[in-house]
Amino acid sequence: MKKILDLISQEVMDAFEVCGYEASYGKTGISNRPDLCEYQCNGALAAAKRYKKAPIMIANDVVAVLKEKQVFADVAAVNPGFINMKVSGEFVAEYLLAMQADDNLSVDKAEQPKTIIIDYGGANVAKPLHVGHLRSAVIGESVKRICQFMGHRAIGDVHLGDWGLQMGLIITEVKHRQPELPYFDENFAGEYPEEAPFTISELEEIYPAASAKSKEDAAYREEALDATAKLQNGVRGYRALWQHILNVSIKDLKKNYGNLNVSFELWKKESDAQPYIPDMVAYLKEKGYAYEDQGALIVDVKEESDTKEVPPCIILKSDGAALYTTTDLATIIDRKKEYDPDEIIYCVDKRQEMHFVQVFRCARKTGLVSDKTALTFIGFGTMNGRDGKPFKTRSGGVMRLEYLLEDINEEMFRKITENHEVDPDEARETAKLVGLSAVKYGDLSNQASKDYIFDMERFTSFEGNSGPYILYTIVRIKSILNKYRASGKSVEQGHILAPANESEKALMLELVKFNSMMEQAYEEKAPHRICSFIYDLANEFNRFYHETRILGTEDEVQQRSWIELLDLTRRVLETSIDLLGFSAPERM
Ligand code: ARG
Repeated sequence: MKKILDLISQEVMDAFEVCGYEASYGKTGISNRPDLCEYQCNGALAAAKRYKKAPIMIANDVVAVLKEKQVFADVAAVNPGFINMKVSGEFVAEYLLAMQADDNLSVDKAEQPKTIIIDYGGANVAKPLHVGHLRSAVIGESVKRICQFMGHRAIGDVHLGDWGLQMGLIITEVKHRQPELPYFDENFAGEYPEEAPFTISELEEIYPAASAKSKEDAAYREEALDATAKLQNGVRGYRALWQHILNVSIKDLKKNYGNLNVSFELWKKESDAQPYIPDMVAYLKEKGYAYEDQGALIVDVKEESDTKEVPPCIILKSDGAALYTTTDLATIIDRKKEYDPDEIIYCVDKRQEMHFVQVFRCARKTGLVSDKTALTFIGFGTMNGRDGKPFKTRSGGVMRLEYLLEDINEEMFRKITENHEVDPDEARETAKLVGLSAVKYGDLSNQASKDYIFDMERFTSFEGNSGPYILYTIVRIKSILNKYRASGKSVEQGHILAPANESEKALMLELVKFNSMMEQAYEEKAPHRICSFIYDLANEFNRFYHETRILGTEDEVQQRSWIELLDLTRRVLETSIDLLGFSAPERM
């Protein structure tokens, strides 16, 4: 559907043309003085120079033509030459009727769908998810849903870290604890057990223990490095043990991401890229891109215009080992081969920005990606505690995602049960939904690149710019719709009337912004656009609701129109929160 601003602009442009001025001066925007008008065109000011006429005269000419048009309820030329407009209620109602009839709520799907891979999540196997991973999961999931909603083929890949020293550390620690296991017996030729020799909670305790030991004990660290090399070189027992670690860990990760309403189309791992490395290295050498420097193999990626030093990409260390960069380059090759994507988006902590600058430049320069593939880095800031420092547990340790969610859910449960009697089981379920909205909205309502403060009180509040406030608004609408249905009437479509009062019009003018807002959210890959839109929409709805007797009115035709307007508002809000990755309960 055409955007309402384009329809209005078109009318004004036509009017400029009719008056003998160039049409392009008629471009119109949303008014920045909502107290005076709804839409505004400043073209007469610019046209004045060209036509050597006072701007107000031009504005007067145009306004005379606009006054005849059905689209406008009020048009005025204002000194020195602004054109201020209010649209007619019929025009807005008609737009909303079209929006109501559209399954995609007025948003056009891409004519040429792109294949977009979103690399997010980025959990590391056998290490518990901490709040640092929260942002990647929450933002990446939303960006993916936005791309899909716009009609693109967006594929989420969790890109698990399963290849570094952490694996060698775990293997070493298991070996110290259970040296009798067959994985460590070089002469063992039989089948390895199907059952893993550890549970997830043991695994989660093993890694930090091993990591701590390796920092104090050089010999232990050597052992872990050796185990990492053995694993990477394909030693059978180590591979089998690694597979156990993966299985146990992935099962747990799926559960945790599930609780966040985050899911991945692909569960690829860093190790999946390793087979591409030897050929890639050969290619880079052969083409002269990579050269040896102090034993390491590197590719220069600095550019003339750099203001900050961009170090070369290290492809292989002097001992021949591959690095994070190497893995990311090889992953690009894998993705190109499997999906030939138009774009790869990385949703990663902004502290890794330099790494991605290097990887992107190297991939471009060496032709590992073609020009058609855009490489985009969405770097996010840190989630801090109220003290402005990275969020910690009460005892000062790294906060685990699970505990954070438990804390939030507990707080939500307390709030939900505080004021009224509810079935405790239902309250638990509701608390989960509302808690998730608190966490996700609290995160997504900030521009991703900014640090933000995790403020339990503000995030879980039912008032103000919070997830629970949005859900509360949706639940309020649902409850009115249910009461309407309970009176024997049904919620239909096609009967929205021109607004009956000012707050209703304001609500309508908010709803019509949905398609242009979505386009912008997609262009900028910016979920915070959706958040500020639904916050405004919820505010306008609540204002209308407080000023209007919807169920109490005797006028059934008016009532039917209001009910349809409510239902449309609900659809827009529910679609929006789905794009943010959470949903609303029936009651709360
Ligand atoms: N596992 C990494 C970490 O925890 C994040 C991976 C991000 N994705 C990538 N393609 N490098 O820091």
